Amino acid sequence: MTIRARVCGVGHYLPDRVVPNSWFEDKLDTSDEWIQARTGIERRHFAAEGETTSVMAARAAERALDMAGKSASDVDAIIVATSTPDLTFPSAATMVQAELGMSAGFAFDVQAVCAGFVFALANANALIVSGQARSALVIGAETFSKILDFEDRGTCVLFGDGAGALYLEADEGKGTNEDRGILACDLNSDGNLRDILYVDGGVSTQSTGHLRMQGKEVFRHAVEKLAATAHTAMEKAGVASSDVDWIVPHQANLRLIQ
Ligand SMILES: CC(C)(COP(=O)(O)OP(=O)(O)OC[C@H]1O[C@@H](n2cnc3c(N)ncnc32)[C@H](O)[C@@H]1OP(=O)(O)O)[C@@H](O)C(=O)NCCC(=O)NCCS
Repeated sequence: MTIRARVCGVGHYLPDRVVPNSWFEDKLDTSDEWIQARTGIERRHFAAEGETTSVMAARAAERALDMAGKSASDVDAIIVATSTPDLTFPSAATMVQAELGMSAGFAFDVQAVCAGFVFALANANALIVSGQARSALVIGAETFSKILDFEDRGTCVLFGDGAGALYLEADEGKGTNEDRGILACDLNSDGNLRDILYVDGGVSTQSTGHLRMQGKEVFRHAVEKLAATAHTAMEKAGVASSDVDWIVPHQANLRLIQ
C-alpha cells in the first residue's frame, strides 16, 4: 500500500477591486495594447484596506473545504505560501488557522515567491506520505500591490493580489500511476540569480521595499526552467508529455506560458 496526497477541494479568492490596464495609462507611459501584447494581462485585482494576505487566504481555504465537504476540524496542517504576510510573525498560516476557528493541528508559512505554491504543495505531500498529517490545506496568497513601485512601468503592470487553496487528504494507493493523488514533485532553487527578481527591502534593513525585476532575464529563465522541471517531474512519475491533459503554471504572463 502506498499513501498518496489526493486533492479533494479547490478554492480561490479575489478582491472586489478590479484594476484594468487603462488605470495605468493616466499615471505612466504605457497602454492597454502594450500590456496585452507583451503579457496577455487584461486586468488584475487589488486588495482593499484591511484585506490582508491572511484574510484572502482564509476565504480561499473555506471554499476549498466547502468543495471537499469538510470542516476546519478535519484539517491537520495549514501551509501558506506567501512573500507578503500580514506581519513579520506570527505566520499568515496561524492567522488562517484562527480565522477558520481551529485550535488544533499545526500551521506555517513557506516563502518561495513565484514557486511558493509548488514548494508548499511538495511540503504538504511529504507530511502526508510520511504519516505526519492526514490532511492539509495548501494556500498561495499574496498582496503584491503593497510592494509595487507604481512609477516603474516594467513591473507594476504585471502583479496583483489574490489567494488560491487546495485541500488534500491521505489516500491509499497501489503505488502505480493509476493512483489518484500527487505522483511526483520536483523542486529547484538557484540563489545566484537573486538579482533578476527581488524586493529591495526587508525586516533586517528596516524597510518594506519594492519589487525589482530584470524582465527579459526572468522571462528567459522562467521559460527554460519551467519546461525543465516539468520534464523532470514527468520522468519521476514515469509519464510522457502525451499523457498530460493540463498544465497549470503559476504564471500570469500568457506569452511566457505559451
Ligand atoms: C516585463 C516584460 C513584459 C517586458 O517585455 P520585453 O519584451 O522583455 O520588454 P523590455 O523589457 O525589453 O522593454 C522593451 C521596452 O518596453 C518598455 N516597457 C516596459 N514596460 C512597459 C510598459 N508597461 N508599457 C510600455 N512600455 C514598457 C521598456 O521600457 C523598453 O523600452 P526602451 O526600449 O525604450 O528601453 C517581459 O520581460 C516579461 O514578461 N518578463 C517576465 C516577467 C514576469 O512574468 N515576471 C513574473 C515573475 S515569474
